[in-house]
Amino acid sequence: MADRNYIHGYSSQEQERLVDQARVLDQFIFENIDLSDVDHLLEVGSGVCAQTVLILERYPNIRITCIEYDERQIEAAQQHVLSNPNYSDRITLIHADATDLKLADDQFDAAYICWVLEHVPDPVSILKETRRLLKPGAAAYLTEVAHNNLHLEPHTPSAMKLWQQIIDTQAALGGNANIGFQLSNLCAAAGFDSIQTWPKNMFFDRTQAEHRDTLLNYWNGLIASNFDVLLEQGVGSHEEFNSVMEKVEELRKDPNAVFSYAFIQAKAIA
Ligand SMILES: C[S@@+](CC[C@H](N)C(=O)[O-])C[C@H]1O[C@@H](n2cnc3c(N)ncnc32)[C@H](O)[C@@H]1O
Repeated sequence: MADRNYIHGYSSQEQERLVDQARVLDQFIFENIDLSDVDHLLEVGSGVCAQTVLILERYPNIRITCIEYDERQIEAAQQHVLSNPNYSDRITLIHADATDLKLADDQFDAAYICWVLEHVPDPVSILKETRRLLKPGAAAYLTEVAHNNLHLEPHTPSAMKLWQQIIDTQAALGGNANIGFQLSNLCAAAGFDSIQTWPKNMFFDRTQAEHRDTLLNYWNGLIASNFDVLLEQGVGSHEEFNSVMEKVEELRKDPNAVFSYAFIQAKAIA
């Protein structure tokens, strides 16, 4: 169901994909993020808390307040996190729209936002609200997609066509699958200072065949997570999607295959 213009939907399969995604991408996402001095973290668009758990594991003393506006994600997050006594007293889940939070100013030591701004029509309003909640001098860490950075070898036209359809459909739903390229501009528009941005490359060829296989598997799942909404939007067909998945599977088995993608990260100071 394509509600709230969210291209991945909120099925239980999608919720499990978020948990897998967090584990597969963890080493790339957190390489340049240091939360060791953070006592209280604000996580915006926390979904099922797939990443929250990894942050709680990595930083045993951190407390996290999570903002999520979809009730199904909150319910899944409650099962995923609050039932675990190792985490439950360090996490607060708030069911709210991150563009308008009824929380006091200047209370968090850092903010974390990952794969969220790509889905919203007005990312600056979320960033302004995040900045308001941060203590002066605190950092916001952003991680977002930049789908035009995808490169596959051997060239696979049907997969690249589907990828473009995903980018276009996300735009038609009010999102932006290339929002990573805009992170510094969005942070500046929201009033942040000392903005830094960097691409995080994931480049795998035969020299890292195991990582390449993991990433291609993950990428398969990411593509498939869009199918229901694409069909609802009148884009593509089951037959076309099946044929692309066969091609991608061929590519995954090709010893000469190359998978290259770079997402974009930012650190900005409130
Ligand atoms: C792709 S998921 C990512 C979840 C999590 N950050 C992760 O990486 O696993 C994006 C989440 O942001 C939530 N979201 C989008 N816009 C939001 C808003 N304005 N306020 C709160 N949550 C929002 C969606 O409901 C969804 O659960």
